[in-house]
Amino acid sequence: MIQLTDIIKAFIKGVTHSTCSLIGAWMTTITFPILLVSVILDMQGIIHNPVFGFVVYLIIGPLFITGLLLVFLGLFFFEGKEDVGIFTYEYLKGHFTAGERFIKVRKLIFLATVLTLINVFIISLTAYSGYHYTESVSFCAQLCHSVMAPEEVAYENSPHSRVACVECHIGEGAQWFVKSKISGARQLVAVVTGSYSRPIETPLHGLRPARDTCEACHRPELFHGDKLQVINKYLPDEKNTHVQTVLRLKVGTGGYQGTEANGIHWHVSPENKITYTHSDRGREHINEVTLTKQDGTQVVFLSEEAQESSETQEGGHEGGTREMDCLDCHNRPTHIYLGPNKALDQKLAHDTIPQSLPFIKKMGYELITKEYSSKEEAKNNIATVLRSWYRENYPELVKNNMPLLEKAIAGVQAAYVENVYPEMKITWNTYDNFLGHSDDSGCFRCHDDSHATSTGETISGDCDTCHVILAEEEENPEVLSILDGS
Ligand code: HEC
Ligand code: HEC
Ligand code: HEC
Ligand code: HEC
Ligand code: HEC
Repeated sequence: MIQLTDIIKAFIKGVTHSTCSLIGAWMTTITFPILLVSVILDMQGIIHNPVFGFVVYLIIGPLFITGLLLVFLGLFFFEGKEDVGIFTYEYLKGHFTAGERFIKVRKLIFLATVLTLINVFIISLTAYSGYHYTESVSFCAQLCHSVMAPEEVAYENSPHSRVACVECHIGEGAQWFVKSKISGARQLVAVVTGSYSRPIETPLHGLRPARDTCEACHRPELFHGDKLQVINKYLPDEKNTHVQTVLRLKVGTGGYQGTEANGIHWHVSPENKITYTHSDRGREHINEVTLTKQDGTQVVFLSEEAQESSETQEGGHEGGTREMDCLDCHNRPTHIYLGPNKALDQKLAHDTIPQSLPFIKKMGYELITKEYSSKEEAKNNIATVLRSWYRENYPELVKNNMPLLEKAIAGVQAAYVENVYPEMKITWNTYDNFLGHSDDSGCFRCHDDSHATSTGETISGDCDTCHVILAEEEENPEVLSILDGS
C-alpha cells in the first residue's frame, strides 16, 4: 500500500532531482498565491490599473502555467526517473494495466485529481479574467496610453463612451478574435519599439466591416423620418453673439415594412449596393461610383477626370476599390476630433467657457490655432496671454471677476487639449470627418454634381437632397420660436 507521505516524498524527490522540475516548482510556488489574490482582487473590481491587469494576465498567469508544465515535464521525461518510481511512465503503466496493482495507486490518483482540479480552476479563472482583460478599454487604450490617448480622450467624450473598443474593432466570432490578437501583438511590438506612425494612419485597413459591428446595435434600415438639427455657433465679436443653424436632416431609412429606402440611409438598404474606386489612401478622390440595384442593373458615375482619361480608375498605388458602408459617412463615430471653431462653440454652448466674457471666442480661436510643441506649452501660453490681454483691455471686469477669467482659461485650454495632440502629431483637422461636407470632403466626394453617367445624370449636389436649411447662422431663428409655440 502506498502512503500519501510516500507519494509526497517521491514527488519532492523527483522535483529535486530534475532541474527543470525544480525551476517549475519555484515558479508555481511563488506565482500561485500572487495570482490567486490578484485575480480575486481584479474580479471584485478593487484595483483599477491597466498595468496591474497586464502584469497579472500577461506575465504572472503564463509564468504559473509554464511552471506547472515544467514540473511535470521534469518528472516524466527527464533524468532521475529511477529514484522517483511512482511518477514514471513505466511505473504508472504497470499499475494501470494490472487489476490488483491498480488499487494501490488510488490515493495517487486521488491526489493527482485534486491537484489537477485546483490547477484547472486557477487556470480557467485566470484565462477567463485574462480574456476579459484583453477585451477591456483599459487594456486597449490605457496600457498604450501615449499612443492611443487621442483616441481614448475623444472616445470618452463621445456618444459611444460606454461601448467597449472591441465592440467596434473586433466584434463577435473566433476568426476576428484571433485576427485581433495577432494584430494586437504586432501593435504591442510597435509600441515597445516606438515604430508606430504618428499620427496613426486612417482609414484603418483590416478593420472589420462596419456592417458586422455597427449593426449589432444599430439598424438604419429601421430608421424613419427626418431629424431636426440645431447647431449653436458663436461669432468672434465683442458679445460672442450666439447664432444658430437649423437643418431638417433627411436621415431616412434603408426601407422597412413597405417604406421604400429613402434619404440619407438609402445607401445602406439591402437593395442598393454602391462600390467605388479611389486613387488615394484617404479615399478623398473618388473616380468611379457603381450603383448595383436589386435587379442587377448597374449605373456607373465617373468623375470628371475619369471621364476625360477613361483609363484605369483605381490609379495611384494607394488607391483601391471599396463597397460603401457606414464608415464612408460615419468614419469618426467615436474618435471625434472637432475643428477649432466647433470645439470652442461647444464649450461656449455648455458654458464651460463663459459667454459673457467679451471677445472670448475671438481670443480663444487665435490662441488655440497657434502651433505649440507640447500641451504644457499650449496651456501656459493660453493662460498667460488671456490674463494679460484682459488685464489690459478689460481691467475692471478682471478685477471684479477673476473666477470668470479663470473659468474661461480652463475652457479654452480644454478645447485645445481634447482635440490636439502634439506628441502624436495630431493637430486641427488631421482626421477628416466625412459626416457632412466641410472642405469638399465627406458627402461632396460623390455628391458634387460632376460624377456623371454616360447619359449625363449626376450624383446630386442639390442642397435639398440631404437637408432643408431652415435657418443659417441666425440670431433667434424664427423657426425655433414657431416650434417653441411662442
Ligand atoms: C463606435 C465604434 C468604435 C469604438 C467604441 C472605438 N472605436 Fe476606434 N475606431 C472606430 C472607427 C470607425 C475608426 C476609424 C476607421 C477608419 O477611418 O478607417 C477607428 C479608429 C481607431 C484608431 C485609428 C486612429 C484614428 O483616430 O482613426 C485607433 C488607434 C482606435 N480607433 C482605437 C480605439 C480605442 C483604444 C478604443 C477604446 C477606447 C476605440 N478605438 C473604440 C470605431 C470605434
Ligand atoms: C455595442 C453597441 C454599439 C455599437 C457596436 C455601435 N454603437 Fe453607435 N451607439 C450606441 C449607443 C448606445 C448610442 C447612443 C448613445 C447616446 O444616445 O448617448 C449610439 C449612438 C450612435 C450614433 C448617434 C450619435 C449622436 O451623435 O447622437 C451614431 C451615428 C452611431 N452610434 C454610429 C455607429 C457606428 C457607425 C458604429 C460602427 C462603427 C456604431 N455606432 C457601433 C451603441 C453602439
Ligand atoms: C451616406 C452616408 C451615411 C451612411 C452610409 C450611413 N449613415 Fe448613419 N447617418 C448619416 C447622417 C448624415 C446622419 C445624421 C447625422 C447627425 O444626426 O448629425 C446619420 C445618423 C445616424 C444615426 C443617428 C440617428 C439619429 O436619429 O440620431 C445612427 C445610429 C446611424 N446613422 C447609424 C448608421 C449605421 C449603423 C450605418 C451603416 C449600416 C449608417 N448609419 C450608414 C449618414 C450615413
Ligand atoms: C461613394 C459615393 C457617395 C458618397 C460618399 C455619398 N453618397 Fe449619397 N448617393 C450616392 C449615389 C450613387 C446615390 C444615388 C444617385 C442617383 O441614383 O441619382 C446617392 C444618393 C443619395 C441620396 C438620395 C437617396 C434617395 O432618396 O434616392 C441622399 C439623400 C444621399 N445620397 C445623401 C448622402 C449624404 C448625406 C452623404 C454624406 C454623409 C452621402 N450621400 C455620401 C453616392 C454617395
Ligand atoms: C449629399 C448630401 C448633402 C448635400 C447635397 C448638401 N449637404 Fe449640407 N449637410 C449635409 C450633412 C450630412 C450635413 C451635416 C450634418 C451634421 O453635421 O450632422 C450638412 C450640413 C450643412 C450645414 C451646416 C453645417 C454647419 O456646421 O453649419 C450647412 C449650412 C449646409 N449643410 C449647407 C449646404 C448647402 C448650402 C448645400 C448646397 C450647396 C448643401 N449643404 C448640400 C449633407 C448635404
